[in-house]
Amino acid sequence: MKRMLTVDDLARDARFVRTRIEDAVFDPRNAVSRNRSENPFKPTDSESPDAARQLMHGIFMGEVQALEGAGRTCYDFEVGTGPDEVPYALKLDMARQCWDEARHVEISVKLTEHMGSQVGEFAEQTFLFEAACNADPILRLTGVNRALEGLAIDVFNTMRDYGDAVADPVLFFCEDWMLADEVTHVKMGSDWLRRVTADDKERQTRALEFQRTVDKLFSLGGFRGEADENPVHLARRFRQMAGFSEGEIVELVDVAAEAQREAEAMIAAAHPTVD
Ligand SMILES: [Fe+2]
Ligand SMILES: [Fe+2]
Repeated sequence: MKRMLTVDDLARDARFVRTRIEDAVFDPRNAVSRNRSENPFKPTDSESPDAARQLMHGIFMGEVQALEGAGRTCYDFEVGTGPDEVPYALKLDMARQCWDEARHVEISVKLTEHMGSQVGEFAEQTFLFEAACNADPILRLTGVNRALEGLAIDVFNTMRDYGDAVADPVLFFCEDWMLADEVTHVKMGSDWLRRVTADDKERQTRALEFQRTVDKLFSLGGFRGEADENPVHLARRFRQMAGFSEGEIVELVDVAAEAQREAEAMIAAAHPTVD
């Protein structure tokens, strides 16, 4: 079997269409909707059910790719202690993660139906699997488990609150169960990063830098931030449970604010007529 697959190798049927996240982030039409004073997941917002459907479809695609990525990490590396090798226990963690992600895919398909949309209704973005293509297994774990699944913690926490606010117990429980698993996955990323790079500070720095790059991309356009207008807020308590230090949480808040400022400046420069 081939090792180190690329995004183009992923098997998808005719329901799935792909787009690039950069195109969505820098689309001036999205800038207009983002610049509304209300965050789209306020239950009082008439567009919130559509925004929730779209976000949960994005999460469903993330679950599929998280399953594919963790599965690849079980297979792509030999057991050992070199930069191209992984401890056997790391593979076991990735196998456990595959089991969880497969369940999340099933939950997400049912949730999609419950929310009134269908598989393939929204385009697929492949950023999660792209982060899972990194040749260094520890960078995969910082990019996928710490950055992207850390973002999943923030999203599930936000949508769990939304499910509660709109009195939808199905949404609430789906989010609550998946949130619990994601805390475990992020913790795996935190633990393996620290364990494997304990005597290799240079590799640790590279891994954290990769995480920062991924975190920044996903804070673009103010998707995640601390203000009321930001749709998704940082779930501090769950981040702590997942092995984030207070300093790392503060840094994440700074990265989000920096990314929002940069994206707004780029959109303003590219589309001077957009307010
Ligand atoms: Fe998941
Ligand atoms: Fe996960």
